[in-house]
Amino acid sequence: MPLFWLLAVSLGCKGRGEATWWGPERAADLDEANDVVEVKLRANQGEVDYGIGAGTVAWLYNGQAPGPAIGANVGDTLTVHLDNDLPYDTTVHWHGMRVPNAMDGVGWLQDPVGPGESFTYSFTIPDAGTWWYHPHMMSTEAVERGLQGAIIAEDPDDPPVDVERLLMLDDIDLTPEGEIAPFELDESEINTRLGRLGNVLLLNGQSFLDGPVRATAEGGTVERWRLVNTANARTMEFSLEGAAFRVIAEDGTMIDPPQEVQTFTLAAGQRADLEVLPAEQNISLTLLLQSPAGEQLPYEALSVAVDHPDTAAEPLDWPAPELAEIVSTTQSVQLVLDSDDEGLAVSWTINGEAWTSCEDALGGDPIPVAQDTPTELTLVNNSDEDHPFHLHGQLMQLLDRDGVAPDYRGQRDTVLLRGGETVRLFSRFENPGVWMAHCHILEHAAMGMMTAFEVAP
Ligand code: C2O
Ligand code: CU
Repeated sequence: MPLFWLLAVSLGCKGRGEATWWGPERAADLDEANDVVEVKLRANQGEVDYGIGAGTVAWLYNGQAPGPAIGANVGDTLTVHLDNDLPYDTTVHWHGMRVPNAMDGVGWLQDPVGPGESFTYSFTIPDAGTWWYHPHMMSTEAVERGLQGAIIAEDPDDPPVDVERLLMLDDIDLTPEGEIAPFELDESEINTRLGRLGNVLLLNGQSFLDGPVRATAEGGTVERWRLVNTANARTMEFSLEGAAFRVIAEDGTMIDPPQEVQTFTLAAGQRADLEVLPAEQNISLTLLLQSPAGEQLPYEALSVAVDHPDTAAEPLDWPAPELAEIVSTTQSVQLVLDSDDEGLAVSWTINGEAWTSCEDALGGDPIPVAQDTPTELTLVNNSDEDHPFHLHGQLMQLLDRDGVAPDYRGQRDTVLLRGGETVRLFSRFENPGVWMAHCHILEHAAMGMMTAFEVAP
């Protein structure tokens, strides 16, 4: 730990933006203005070392997978110049961010960015939180091959922390030679029903199959961990031992009140922010997988050795989120999520329809909803599989899950429906435009489970 940092802490004058960063390299900000963040993202193919003993050809942003973490303040203008040096069309979608419709990175809202082409995204960062970016073309393949990065939008009202850690968690399917396994949706029953489950587990692009990623921490400090599940399909359950911790945000938004839990679950696409107070010799973050036989298989993802583990910091006072008041609703939409098995082929449906594409055209008629109108959105999962339902451009508050109201408030862009569950959500649909909604199990989306909302006055 650098001396000036110790001094700052001991004087109690540690300002914002001084937290020690741990995670994927951050994107360079090319603009000097305080409230403008300008970033270059170059997508290309290249070799990465996932720590499995063989180079793997992946798709990269700025030569790295995961791509660079983009840091900004809420309210800043974010400008991203995308250069596509891949031999495929691509776009960038800003997962969870309430950007203007034309900036949403969906292939029919903009011209796909072809090989050798460029596109500039620019918008004001609407909400503080942990967001992420990924292509919205060939999503199953592009995200699996490494095109994924986080956006950290800071809120000046959040109390300062000593250490910020970004943890991008993924599982990828590799061949014995270390290449990313081919993408054939219909080949295996597992791929078809559950989506593409990987055989290598990654934390920030490092395999933790044979042992955790290692880091160090200091007793008496406050850390903020931001976890992102970037897997194509896998719902991940985690435990964290060796530190007092609380979940303080879900899908970007602060929750009220913060939750003390033993384990927490992140479905594909979801994020959680944790407040972590190191005070024991070792902190251990473990991914708890279920074997097909139902046994729990723990994989330690991160092991943090703590120096001076004798004192614990006090938990911080996190500001409660500003949430839209839940009022009685004047419009309602119900979506039934299901599968349609025709012989060997499975398709995934919403209200009986399977959209086959959203790459360069809408796959069907969007659902009309009135803008800025209290809306009840009911999602019914008629199938046995998980469906993390993701809505673009809006945030939703959970009203109840199978009739049971949650014991904390928050808002989110992705809600997990377990097999057979029904959830009711509240949203005002404030952001106008035509917005995708789909299962974030990318194979389910590719095999039909998507729709769109047309939000207009
Ligand atoms: Cu993260 Cu429509 O996606
Ligand atoms: Cu699904």
